[in-house]
Amino acid sequence: METRKLFSERRSVNNFDKSKSLSQEQVKEIVDLAVMAPSAFNLQPWRLVMVQSDENKTKLYELANNQEKILQAPVTFIVVGNKEGYNNENPVWEEMLQSVGGREEIVEGAKQAAQFLYGTSEERKLKFAESNAGLLAMSLMIAAKEYGVDSHPMSGLDFDGVHKAFGLKDSEEVVMAIALGYADDSQKLYPRRPRRSFDDIVTVF
Ligand SMILES: Cc1cc2nc3c(=O)[nH]c(=O)nc-3n(C[C@H](O)[C@H](O)[C@H](O)COP(=O)(O)O)c2cc1C
Repeated sequence: METRKLFSERRSVNNFDKSKSLSQEQVKEIVDLAVMAPSAFNLQPWRLVMVQSDENKTKLYELANNQEKILQAPVTFIVVGNKEGYNNENPVWEEMLQSVGGREEIVEGAKQAAQFLYGTSEERKLKFAESNAGLLAMSLMIAAKEYGVDSHPMSGLDFDGVHKAFGLKDSEEVVMAIALGYADDSQKLYPRRPRRSFDDIVTVF
């Protein structure tokens, strides 16, 4: 889809058609496109928890202020940011080592920089996790639309409750949830609300 059309046609769909499912293959294609999102040092400090069973959808629905779309949509992703995604275990460092021809000093320097920039306070760790995973979230919605799939982002969540119920690690942060599926055409979508423009939001220095 043309990019301009993609941006103008993506909407937060309030009602999903329960009779329309998504195949694993479709979801995989969407995710594999979405991961083109940029991230600091290409660390990709994120993962997605894919909620699709009725039991788990109900669990998430109850932790999301009973937002009906979670029950209607075939899949809802919990977007998870990794507050410690710069640490040694991340396989990205090894890939970086290959890409710089085995020059360990380059990777060591990058690791130290990342640790300094993102790991020296809880605030920085949170910023790191949420900014990177936030970009993945937007990318996921745009990628979905490219495949004709609608979405709805949600942060009206009991974040701690979701964290606990879906077994996330202490180093992980629930960033938002995103329901994916097909809009229920029998329900009217509310008109798109206006956006602030360049003149409203840009401060020039
Ligand atoms: C981070 C984030 C959290 C949101 N949380 C909710 C939510 O919990 N429930 C809801 O109904 N809409 C939620 N929304 C949807 C917004 O209300 C919607 O994106 C906005 O009104 C613009 O509409 P549009 O996406 O159709 O252009 C959220 C959107 C974002 C980006």
